[in-house]
Amino acid sequence: MGLSPFYLPMRASSCWAHVEMGPPDAILGVTEAFKRDTSTKKMNLGVGAYRDDNGKPFVLSSVRKAEAMLTAKKLDKEYLPIAGLAEFNKASVELALGDNSEVVKSGRYMTVQSISGTGSLRIGASLLERFYNRSRDVYLPKPSWGNHTPIFRDAGLQLKAYRYYDPKTCGFDFAGALDDISKIPEQSIILFHACAHNPTGVDPRPEQWKELAALVKKRQLFPFFDMAYQGFASGDINRDAWAVRYFIEQGINMVLSQSYAKNMGLYGERVGAFTAICQDVDEAKRVESQVKILIRPMYSNPPINGARIAATILTNAELRKEWLEEVKGMANRIISMREQLVSNLKKEGSIHNWQHITDQIGMFCFTGLKPDQVERLNKEFSIYLTKDGRISVAGITSANVGYLAHAIHEVSK
Ligand SMILES: Cc1ncc(COP(=O)(O)O)c(C=O)c1O
Repeated sequence: MGLSPFYLPMRASSCWAHVEMGPPDAILGVTEAFKRDTSTKKMNLGVGAYRDDNGKPFVLSSVRKAEAMLTAKKLDKEYLPIAGLAEFNKASVELALGDNSEVVKSGRYMTVQSISGTGSLRIGASLLERFYNRSRDVYLPKPSWGNHTPIFRDAGLQLKAYRYYDPKTCGFDFAGALDDISKIPEQSIILFHACAHNPTGVDPRPEQWKELAALVKKRQLFPFFDMAYQGFASGDINRDAWAVRYFIEQGINMVLSQSYAKNMGLYGERVGAFTAICQDVDEAKRVESQVKILIRPMYSNPPINGARIAATILTNAELRKEWLEEVKGMANRIISMREQLVSNLKKEGSIHNWQHITDQIGMFCFTGLKPDQVERLNKEFSIYLTKDGRISVAGITSANVGYLAHAIHEVSK
């Protein structure tokens, strides 16, 4: 007896047969193409990680010392509690809000350790999805870090946007932002980058933050501050946390995400924190209990090593001092590369106004280069960056800044 003609194909078909190939990650795709390029002059300006002036990954000396201290202690590797390492959480919230924070003193907050900034955003998104019953809408700056959209969307929230970047000036579209935010339905969720906005490098000035805070208060919006670069923008951890602290002083309760990927160079250790500022201690305790209920089925409890390193640095006076110097060193190298890029462009004879390169701050610079110019940089000069014209300034060195300026001038004259 022969088999039914339908039998074999059905048995052979897999339950994943209908799954389509997903698009590759835009930034990791740039790195892949960079790796394949054999040019000795090639530059990878796509990657969002700090490089030293030799173009090499940088491990902070304060981190190495903290690691040595921890190794000498021969600590066990037991599970952390669901909320993570308590001394790390305390030190993190103090770093964000400052030593004299009324919130920290009164205890009307809850902080949990997270899987770096991404994990913190995801915890926050899930908390809002489950308990923020005033709105489903999250307003992101346009543009925002590419991962914000899927983080909030996968948590079940709806994404909206407010104007932020002005391509005409390569700067902050303050009027556009105020106009859009004034029309956001009351009590919606709004995301701000605390400093060193990714991908534009454009931050509001303090007086602009003040107006934004007044508007947020007036429209009773709920702010989610993403602070992935504290210290990395200006070199000063207090200055970079200014907006967060100002909003809190204005009586605006918020949720806050922190990452130690950039400012401690702990990228792969995945160390971060999530904080919710509450009305009082009792509310904070209730919120914390629910955050733990959210975390438990996601990853049970966070990894121990990176949090120990960060906590050691933050709580040991000598190491903390050294770390603050190192953060300043990284920020200053980036600021200096911005200046050198502009002066080299002038030397090349570029007639364009490149002031936005030095006005912008943090790891990234939105050059204003158009997709066809980016393609030429890529094809003719082996310089790799994302199509939107964003470069990671941390990828520039004293040795290659001249080559980069030459290439940018060639494609933009
Ligand atoms: C704006 C912003 N938020 C959050 C993150 C989170 O990074 P991580 O999960 O590595 O801490 C990044 C990293 O590039 C970022 O640029």
